[in-house]
Amino acid sequence: MRTLVLAMTGASGAVYAARLLEVLLVAGHQVHLTLSPAAGDVLRQELGLSVDLEAFDPAVLLPGGGASDSRLPLLLSGAAASHALSDIIREGDAPGGQVVYHHHRDFSAGIASGSFRTDGMVICPCSMGTLAAVAHGQSANLIQRAADVHLKERRKLIVVPRETPLGSIQLDNMKRLADAGAVVLPAMPGFYHSPSTIHDLVDFIVGRVCDQLGVEQQLIRRWGTSG
Ligand SMILES: Cc1cc2nc3c(=O)[nH]c(=O)nc-3n(C[C@H](O)[C@H](O)[C@H](O)COP(=O)(O)O)c2cc1C
Repeated sequence: MRTLVLAMTGASGAVYAARLLEVLLVAGHQVHLTLSPAAGDVLRQELGLSVDLEAFDPAVLLPGGGASDSRLPLLLSGAAASHALSDIIREGDAPGGQVVYHHHRDFSAGIASGSFRTDGMVICPCSMGTLAAVAHGQSANLIQRAADVHLKERRKLIVVPRETPLGSIQLDNMKRLADAGAVVLPAMPGFYHSPSTIHDLVDFIVGRVCDQLGVEQQLIRRWGTSG
């Protein structure tokens, strides 16, 4: 079991994070989850979810999580809507549970310290605002602080930016992060695996994130293989 941090920020593409969370949980990993306020806005806009970050229930991020207004089943058609998974999440508040939610202002959370061991962090999706803040070591909220910690501890930090077109400031910030050791993995799905659904495109990105985390996945057919 790996201990991983998943931070959602206010870029488009909340569905990538929802699917990533599901895949990591199914694989048996523990996820420390945190969301920026803008991520909450995107969840409302893109997935139709009512989100209260003061009392956030991570189960709403799953297709089977019981949120009646969720667009996730539509976007991830074909994905297993697992009620068992949402049960796992609800037990996650307990120490050692599979999902531990942290408020974005909670600097007393373990993930704010280098002494708390993790096996990596993903910011997905990563807004240009958070990208800039992390590139300049601002640590103004828990997401930025945890990212800063992962860089200084030389642990894996993966950022999944979504913006287009990109200006020179954004490109400079990405270069800065890559130079500091982060993996910049833009939400740019390929089309060489013959996708036919949004789910296929989402899984392309989620699969590449899992590869970077060292998490086994069979979400996408690998180039050069027949299976
Ligand atoms: C529906 C919606 C979609 C957005 N999409 C993007 C986006 O794709 N990329 C981006 O960098 N910012 C996007 N933004 C703007 C960010 O949310 C905004 O810059 C915010 O301050 C980022 O804050 P955060 O980094 O703390 O999450 C979007 C905002 C909304 C409401």
